[in-house]
Amino acid sequence: MDEELRQLEARALRRSRRVVRGAQGPEVEIDGRMLVCLGSNNYLGLAADERMILGAISALAEVGAGAGASPLLGGHMEDHDALEREIASWLGAEAALLFGSGWHANVGVVSALVGPGDEIFSDRLNHASLIDGCRLSRATTRVYAHRDVDELERMLAASKARRRLVVTDSVFSMDGTCAPLERIVDLAERHEAWVLVDEAHATGVFGATGAGLVDELGLGDRVALRMGTLGKALGGYGAFVAGARETVELLLNRARAYVFSTALPPSVVAAARIAIGIARRESSRRERLWRHARRLRAGLVAAGLDVPPLESPIVPLVAGDSRDALAWASRAFDAGVWAPAVRPPTVPEGTARLRLTPMATHSDLHVERAIDVLVAAAGATGGKAA
Ligand SMILES: Cc1ncc(COP(=O)(O)O)c(C=O)c1O
Repeated sequence: MDEELRQLEARALRRSRRVVRGAQGPEVEIDGRMLVCLGSNNYLGLAADERMILGAISALAEVGAGAGASPLLGGHMEDHDALEREIASWLGAEAALLFGSGWHANVGVVSALVGPGDEIFSDRLNHASLIDGCRLSRATTRVYAHRDVDELERMLAASKARRRLVVTDSVFSMDGTCAPLERIVDLAERHEAWVLVDEAHATGVFGATGAGLVDELGLGDRVALRMGTLGKALGGYGAFVAGARETVELLLNRARAYVFSTALPPSVVAAARIAIGIARRESSRRERLWRHARRLRAGLVAAGLDVPPLESPIVPLVAGDSRDALAWASRAFDAGVWAPAVRPPTVPEGTARLRLTPMATHSDLHVERAIDVLVAAAGATGGKAA
């Protein structure tokens, strides 16, 4: 084990954690210093929202700390049931099912829908949890190049499998790109495949009410399932899948990550109900989030940094080498910005980066400061600044 850790160290791939003190806000306290936080998925700034905190406290006081059991053995309580109905209505789906986390949901759903002899078609940049779900299912997985619908079409046309499932993130977590969902859905219909869309980074962020990219594109009725997380833009913890009633019913019976795991704590569920209400009503949060992301990218590009066009509020600043990304992050840290380096295997070899995510509760000043710090850090570490 020691040797393995040493090897990771030698390749600048050994990971460690920083301890955050206090709440997850637009600034976070690390090592006694307040830093502008560009490292979270707390897009709408809800993680420390007072309304959610009070809702969670009152659920704790009324019904206690835990659900006490898996959902089928009595852990499915009134708030869980109400939250599932609210999610279904928000997304315009027939039914929804709660999971412990997005990771649980993806692993549970993929392995429940397909098995040996079936085929899965998966974008190369899909999240690790979808990849793990594919592995666990023991179906044959065909990986197409990122967003390459022509390759996907060739694969689907050649498939003789009894069941076909296309799995894709709607917003890719490390690149901020969006999947060509309309094309994917068209192809899937033509080739009789189901589509599972992971909306982890689209929930709360896309759509007039924050219901996600599938909703924004009006594709809700044409995808078999949408997975969304409660722990990113919605500021809490947990996840859901939504789709047709019989699909959800099948998952309730078959998804092992659902059946064999304790239901979410009632306080977490109560907070999620409040978060969804806020996400639906307060579109100004989404507008601020997008405005900050646009300004952040524009400021970096104006300084000569290489940043791809904005498709979501995730702004990738690719350094290439892991050592460069670490040095860049470390200089930003010293200058007051929390923008951790993301390295392989989270991203492909040679594409280590800072993954920058503003939040709705940042001020304009936070964003300007972050731009100045990141540009200076890039220049000083041989980044791609002109
Ligand atoms: C695209 C994507 N899917 C799924 C997940 C897993 O969600 P959770 O953090 O709720 O387990 C993540 C989280 O990092 C993600 O980025």
